[in-house]
Amino acid sequence: MPAAADVVASALSPGAGATSEPAPLKTLQELSREAADCRLCTLAETRTSVVFGVGDPQADLVLIGEAPGRDEDLRGEPFVGRAGQLLDRMLQAIGLDRKRVYIMNTIKCRPPNNRDPKPDEVQACNLWFEQQLNMLQPKMICLLGRVAAQTVLETDASLGSLRGRWHDYRGVPTWVTYHPAYLLRSPQQKKKSWQDMLVLSNRLRG
Ligand code: URA
Repeated sequence: MPAAADVVASALSPGAGATSEPAPLKTLQELSREAADCRLCTLAETRTSVVFGVGDPQADLVLIGEAPGRDEDLRGEPFVGRAGQLLDRMLQAIGLDRKRVYIMNTIKCRPPNNRDPKPDEVQACNLWFEQQLNMLQPKMICLLGRVAAQTVLETDASLGSLRGRWHDYRGVPTWVTYHPAYLLRSPQQKKKSWQDMLVLSNRLRG
């Protein structure tokens, strides 16, 4: 993700700023409340909710999708539609559920007609994304689908070439797998997605 990040990371580091008393660090809940009023990009005009993220703030594993869809925009929670139900089953297959991981998206507001997020929307939302990941401090990240993978890893590489090996996102081991919505359209790929879930499970338990 592009650079506003570094500014945020240094602002978050203990002792940042000129005063002798370092500012208290924000909690995830406080950040979520701030994000709920966000008007940093034009998606604020068409969204119903800011879909911040859900799950255990102490989770070892953070899963990151592309952007909220219609169901998520209405409910204010990521991955609650059909793709989300499949994601729940994928997690169950390795003994996890959405309360034991943390689920979020690269951007927090639904793009009209579910189009791909635009670069300026990703850039604006990066303010929340970076702070959120800094607070979560996951041991592992799983990127769901091409758009999330290309956005977070800042690459144009295909999903096929990114899948099947570990990446490093700011020191956090990061795996790329298929988006559950794609698996609903292409169920023949579910076997490969199962292999990905096993890779995550083995590393989590290892
Ligand atoms: N697809 C995504 O990428 N994220 C969601 O939250 C829902 C569907």
